[in-house]
Amino acid sequence: MLFQNLRKTFRPALCAAAAVVVALTAGCTAPAPSSTEPPTADTPPAAPAAAPSAGDPWRPAVHLSTDRNWINDPNGLVYDNGTYHAFYQHNPHGNSWGNMSWGHSTSTDLIHWTQQPVAMEASEAEEIFSGSIVMDKDNASGLGTADNPPMVALYTSAYGKGGARPAGIQAQSLAYSLDHGKSWQKYKGNPVLDLAPSSKNFRDPKLTWYAPGKYWVMTTVVADAQTVKLFKSTDLLHWDFLSDFSGVGAHGGLWEVPELLQMDVTGSSGEKKWVMLISINPGGIAGGSGMQYFVGEFDGRKFTAENAAAPGAPLGDSQWLDYGADYYAANSINGAPGGKPVLLGWMGNWDYAQHVPTTPWRGSMAVPRELELVHDGGRYALRSGIAAAAAEALGKAAGGEVRRKDLTVTGSAGPGYEPLGGEFAARTQLLDVELEPGASAEAGLVLRGSADGTRGLRISYERETGTLKVDRSSAGTDNFSPLFSPYHRAPVALKDGKLRLRILLDSSSVEVFTPDGTVAMTDSFYPAWDDTETLAFSRGGPAKVTIASSRVAS
Ligand code: FRU
Repeated sequence: MLFQNLRKTFRPALCAAAAVVVALTAGCTAPAPSSTEPPTADTPPAAPAAAPSAGDPWRPAVHLSTDRNWINDPNGLVYDNGTYHAFYQHNPHGNSWGNMSWGHSTSTDLIHWTQQPVAMEASEAEEIFSGSIVMDKDNASGLGTADNPPMVALYTSAYGKGGARPAGIQAQSLAYSLDHGKSWQKYKGNPVLDLAPSSKNFRDPKLTWYAPGKYWVMTTVVADAQTVKLFKSTDLLHWDFLSDFSGVGAHGGLWEVPELLQMDVTGSSGEKKWVMLISINPGGIAGGSGMQYFVGEFDGRKFTAENAAAPGAPLGDSQWLDYGADYYAANSINGAPGGKPVLLGWMGNWDYAQHVPTTPWRGSMAVPRELELVHDGGRYALRSGIAAAAAEALGKAAGGEVRRKDLTVTGSAGPGYEPLGGEFAARTQLLDVELEPGASAEAGLVLRGSADGTRGLRISYERETGTLKVDRSSAGTDNFSPLFSPYHRAPVALKDGKLRLRILLDSSSVEVFTPDGTVAMTDSFYPAWDDTETLAFSRGGPAKVTIASSRVAS
């Protein structure tokens, strides 16, 4: 069913109305601020992230989260003068979706983030939905000067009472900063882009510079029509319609947060292709929210996908950025060094994100990820891994210390467990694993396990299905939502009978990558504070496991 998630579909309109009357819906725990008495956001000025503790057991150590309150999509992602800026959807007044504002954090290494004051706050008239930022280095907008060109944000105005459009309408607006993202001014001619007639689901502007035409291209969605709309502009203020992209791929829910990227094809002699990233909710490969992508050509006006799955085809025919349940709304960091797109994604799923048991914060970002495009088995495909800068920062955090172990686990009819011992006990660690499942039915690791391995997060190769499986069904607190799915699978091929994995475990999340980048799986889970064991396991026969672990946080 297309709109199983009606509450999400109509969340903006509902919340705007609820703000005036009373906080009615699950998504609007706190009333929106009144325009006459703007409340102060409860964000501390420039605070480094807190660390996990028994009292805040699921706080990530090496991922972006906020001190308190709700976050979802990353928005203006930009690298400026040695600093990565992440702006994001944030409720400065509560632990659930509502009062949508842009929060702000900065980092110099993509791993350790410092929370900054809220950048743009919701008002009764307007919530600030997702969008993006570019450096207008030639001051094409005229909003800065040649000497001090502006940082320009395009965002969705989700109108409430007294806004520039009727309540519930969404249109694209502009804000700019002349002090490197510290303070923001809204453009007086907002909105800069509206549909005729206006829409309640027109959102998520992301900008791409189209060099051959010397203009910016904006991708947006009409979310409930599963359509990406493309526009162009030379000054960021005036936008002309280019084309629509729709009619292919997974269609089981809203299309949100699109991005068009040009990428080099690895291993080719200078070939380039265009990639369209689209978040879909629900209808993702692991249930609920997910991210699909399309590869094709863009001629400056129209994006054409090649070899795309037909709508209604099995989900496995579409191309997915991640096979876990918690990777959504990822988009690239504008100007990130290194030559490859670096993405930041929200580690969440609308199916249950509002109910996860963390407090006083809720939501975090996934590890920054680097993309490559390859030509593989007849079609182009993305490969993902931890971004180089982030991997370097994790290596530094570990201080070069790596613990290694080779072992054979002898599981028979039931699973056999082999605890790795005290030096592998960790709440946060980066693991490089080589798994040789042999003739076993299933073999892998238990992370954040109890001493006997019966509790914990399982990452395994399952012979019968030929898949990599992340199983969070016995991994801790999971009774907060019936939609918190127990396990997820991704097709993988063994190479020489082996499976290599790079795993980042951080308090309440796991991100699993194959080193060749074909598979990424991001899943959240909520383990008991005292479950810190790492174990190897196998079922239905012996398996070999080789592990290298770095402790990237204490
Ligand atoms: C995606 C999304 C966007 C919207 C924002 C609102 O998660 O629904 O489409 O702009 O979140 O918070």
